[in-house]
Amino acid sequence: MKNLWDDFPALSRKINGNRLVYLDNAATTLKPKSVIENISHFYLNNFANVHRAVHTLSSESTLKLEEAREILASFLNANGEEIIFTSGTTMSINMIVESFIRSGFIKEGDNVLITAIEHHANFVPWVRLSKFFGFSVHFIKPTGRFGTIEEKDLLKFKEFNPKIVSVTAHSNVTGQVIDIEQLRKIFPNSILIVDAAQLMPHEKIDVKSLDIDFLAFSAHKMLGPSGVGILYAKKEHLENMEPFLYGGEMIDKVSFDNVTFNELPYKFEAGTPNIAGIIGFGEAIKYLETLGFDNIKNHICSLTTYALKKLSEIKGLEIYGPMDERHQGIISFNLEGVHPHDLAHLLDEKFGVAVRSGHHCAQPLMSILKQESNLKVFPYGTCRASFYIYNNNEDIDILVKGIKSIKEWFNV
Ligand SMILES: Cc1ncc(COP(=O)(O)O)c(C=O)c1O
Repeated sequence: MKNLWDDFPALSRKINGNRLVYLDNAATTLKPKSVIENISHFYLNNFANVHRAVHTLSSESTLKLEEAREILASFLNANGEEIIFTSGTTMSINMIVESFIRSGFIKEGDNVLITAIEHHANFVPWVRLSKFFGFSVHFIKPTGRFGTIEEKDLLKFKEFNPKIVSVTAHSNVTGQVIDIEQLRKIFPNSILIVDAAQLMPHEKIDVKSLDIDFLAFSAHKMLGPSGVGILYAKKEHLENMEPFLYGGEMIDKVSFDNVTFNELPYKFEAGTPNIAGIIGFGEAIKYLETLGFDNIKNHICSLTTYALKKLSEIKGLEIYGPMDERHQGIISFNLEGVHPHDLAHLLDEKFGVAVRSGHHCAQPLMSILKQESNLKVFPYGTCRASFYIYNNNEDIDILVKGIKSIKEWFNV
């Protein structure tokens, strides 16, 4: 991957006198100039509400928003009417669950299968709403190394034939990539929902060839603005589903005693959308497509292999997840005797390295890591370094040097 630093203004920042080493990409990525300038140009020249007015500015806004939808549709190999703009992955998954309940897609007695390594966005809606609506949620528990889901863990549920299988394609904690093709083979008759918040930034997903029913992801984790995401859904589902949000734009006819809905995808897009954000998202996809997703994936895998090797050499550092090619882009670890918040704070203050610390919105997984941990005290959290297109091996060297120095200061 060529050096992209000139495209990312934030990378010229100094953090306490050090160059910024940004390794918190799983939380959100930096934004390239092209995306920032595109959004700024839109606000300066075209901004008006979409779909509602006949004047020039509104037509321009609408055209740009619909262009972004087409970019996203072709990116996923879907149709425009299957692309719903949401505020992000969390909103997309909540929309699915709520709409399923309202449409009778899930009801008392039905079985939903998720994994124990999910981000709360794909955990809490199922678990919480199952309490009110009587369906059951079952968990694929990882039996592999530190939270790694093995094939046998999936196969255990094959005969169970759950109505819905909702799974992350890439753990935001262990960095494990889950093979969606294999998942579909194991559960051919289930409604397959994929949380692609972490995979999408570095791997192209063809929703048709993988036969995915629903797919959710966020713009801000792949160079786009925050507050924008995608819910992809097969048209046949959307046609039969009750919308989650009611209001303007999503209706066809409204009378005192009846409401009919707009055509797809507008039926699921009530209210004024994040117009500039959506347009910026389209620009982000264009930027990534120019780099090429094969190149992006190779770059992320090569950084991960290098980082796993270098980090494993640090005595007292416990690394989570698989230690093979399933581990991509995200590495969680703990240093014996140093709380992850302290480690993250010192890496920032002394070395300019931005990493994330905490439970990463995956508390059930934290309790699984605790069981296998060899640390004297497991802190119910980890430090997490995550890589993207502008990172290089030197960033990893600085991270490793930082951890080694902190280890010496703490005398652990
Ligand atoms: C796997 C996964 N799913 C869902 C989310 C939620 O994404 P958002 O906060 O953009 O809605 C995240 C965010 O970190 C994530 O890592």
